[in-house]
Amino acid sequence: MAEFEFRTRLLLEPGKWATVSRALADGGQSQIVFGYYPKNTQMIVTTKKLFELAYGKYAIGAYNINNLEQCMGLFRGNLDSQAPFIVQISKGARSYTHKAMLEAIIRAANDIFPDAIFAVHLDHGDEKTCMDCIESGFYSSVMIDASHEPFEKNVEITKRVVKAAHARGIVVEAELGQLGGVEEHVKVEESNAKLTDPKQAKEFVRLTGCDSLACAIGTSHGAYKFSGGQGVRFDVLAQIQKELPGFPLVMHGSSSVPQEEVARINAAGGALKGAKGVDENQFREAAKLGVTKVNIDTDGRLVWTRVHREFFRDHPDKFDLRDPGKIFMTEYAKFIAHKNEKLGSAGQLSTVRAALLK
Ligand code: G3H
Ligand code: 13P
Ligand code: ZN
Repeated sequence: MAEFEFRTRLLLEPGKWATVSRALADGGQSQIVFGYYPKNTQMIVTTKKLFELAYGKYAIGAYNINNLEQCMGLFRGNLDSQAPFIVQISKGARSYTHKAMLEAIIRAANDIFPDAIFAVHLDHGDEKTCMDCIESGFYSSVMIDASHEPFEKNVEITKRVVKAAHARGIVVEAELGQLGGVEEHVKVEESNAKLTDPKQAKEFVRLTGCDSLACAIGTSHGAYKFSGGQGVRFDVLAQIQKELPGFPLVMHGSSSVPQEEVARINAAGGALKGAKGVDENQFREAAKLGVTKVNIDTDGRLVWTRVHREFFRDHPDKFDLRDPGKIFMTEYAKFIAHKNEKLGSAGQLSTVRAALLK
């Protein structure tokens, strides 16, 4: 048999046959149709309509996942609270097992929960990862994060990603300004974080054609926010909205790091000192000022840590990973439903479905 490089490329049109391309060693290419893609794919949507419906009223929760327990809890929690949502996959999550693994888990969840309406989003992508996700046909949204680059370079990179994404009907979140905290193993001190300049934001959106903008407004990634005592800069957010009326804004670093959660983790052997986050009662205020997407990752990790630490503290004789895994899925689902109440996205599912089917 001829040697060949095996390249699979699923053409993910809902309800259509999937195709595999084989690039043969001699440069030729063969294409074989091998299966039918599941019927429910159509409820993986872009964020465009979700943001239009939410703008000024509520925000959509964007939750990072890394494994199947998080995925199950996420879908269940969103359906329990009848909320549309965004599944976020970071570069680190893509390489934790294999990028195909998370895609497969999400596809399975889509079949298990056919009523879910969600976007699949790449979180903090570089240009190469964005292009890979766009090419995969699975992601409905990508974030290009070139915010560490000078303005002109950020514009240049973002424009290339927007062009490629829009050609495939995929939307793009870009970032201007710099958040503090840890991101992709790079730590930015809060004091070095750069808040988004509202006038520059308007120019950036005009030049790049991005579909939403991640703004640095005082929050930071991770469990140790607001070390200088400052809070969310609603004044800056209001100015950005004034410059970009009606344009969807994204708030990163939005975990609230519940003190009760931190206390339970510490009581079960953890050592999280001085951890704090965003007041979740401020999400609606942010939504009124144009925030349509709120990114939450750290809080989910805290739920995982609390469940597992408490479980093994209380059951030192147990070693079946499914025992704490089951508790985690239930607890994570409850956490998601609670967050959606705070974001105002809870109860919006039927309205969103009706609007999408129009
Ligand atoms: O912004 C960072 C997100 O929380 C993703 O974190 O890169 O460790 O997956 P990660
Ligand atoms: P947290 O670390 O506050 O959960 O922020 C997550 C985030 O912004 C992912 O992009
Ligand atoms: Zn982020």
